[in-house]
Amino acid sequence: MFILGIETSCDETSAAVVSEDLRVLSNVVLSQDEVHAPYGGVVPELASREHIKTIGYIVEESLQRAGLGFVDIDAFAVTQGPGLIGSLLVGLSFAKGLAYYSRKPLFPVDHLESHLAAAIIENQNIPFPALALLVSGGHTSLYLMEGKLNFSTVSRTRDDAAGEALDKVARFLELGYPGGPAIDRLAATGNPGRYRLSLPKMTDQSLDFSFSGLKTAALRLIQEQRISKGHPHFLDFLASFEQAVIRALLANLSRAARRHKPKALILCGGVASNSKLRKSVSEFAAKRSIEAYIPSPEYCTDNAAMVAALAVERIKAGYHPPPLLDLNAYPRVPPACQGG
Ligand code: KG4
Ligand code: ZN
Repeated sequence: MFILGIETSCDETSAAVVSEDLRVLSNVVLSQDEVHAPYGGVVPELASREHIKTIGYIVEESLQRAGLGFVDIDAFAVTQGPGLIGSLLVGLSFAKGLAYYSRKPLFPVDHLESHLAAAIIENQNIPFPALALLVSGGHTSLYLMEGKLNFSTVSRTRDDAAGEALDKVARFLELGYPGGPAIDRLAATGNPGRYRLSLPKMTDQSLDFSFSGLKTAALRLIQEQRISKGHPHFLDFLASFEQAVIRALLANLSRAARRHKPKALILCGGVASNSKLRKSVSEFAAKRSIEAYIPSPEYCTDNAAMVAALAVERIKAGYHPPPLLDLNAYPRVPPACQGG
């Protein structure tokens, strides 16, 4: 069985072919970074237009790299939401067309669930329950997974996502878009102890995240200390800020782990590509004798392999896709998934 997955929720056009045993035969990702960089963030209208220009070529390329033809595909999978509505509609319409023409099923997939599923591509024997930390540009949430397809939201961010805070601070420092990878690279040689950025404290018992206070504190420090690329402690500032974001993530992960006593930890989403965060979560898990499952960076940032992988698991579990012609995209997290 071969599944062709399509992902266009934001500014990456991606198509992948994944087999029944979760072998990734191809995972083609075309980034639009260069298109959006001059604007310092994603311009939704431009993102949709880029997807429509490239989606056909990317799907074709994914089949070629997999060494398969269109007729060899048994089912399709596509990201349905949440994301930028125009971008989602391009991928969904394209996938609907393919499924309609070929009379094969189309499995719609939630973007956040597919980020969680990225962990099973390389590890099919994750012990459950697992606590999953999803950190991306649009979301920062904790999930309790009782099985590969069975999860509930533990907490989420009340304001900015961690990736959003990294990108905004990077933009302020003229590090280009997206800023996360630049901070990862530059912070590696800085001293994280030079600047102390205080972390948000929730007054209730909730495990929710909040990054807008940390972002504002960082921007204020930049202005007060006139920090820019030429500043003697520029790299120290980046390392300190990155460290503060990681401390905030781990503080909640630690409380959630005490509460839910998971057998495994999963780290996923675009920010999970961050080398320091990967190391910190691995060390955190090792100290508590819990296994940590962190997908390779190519499966952390938006990609279609995770979309196809989730559909494979659903097919194996006997799911039936909803009626093809009724499928529509949704821009936000559906209320049922928002947790508390
Ligand atoms: O999951 P993703 O590709 O898209 C969303 O669903 O949002 O995540 C994108 C986010 C951006 O904020 C980007 O700056 C961040 O992931 N990111 C990183 C790294 N690579 C991507 N942040 C820190 N370090 C990285 N290496
Ligand atoms: Zn994402």
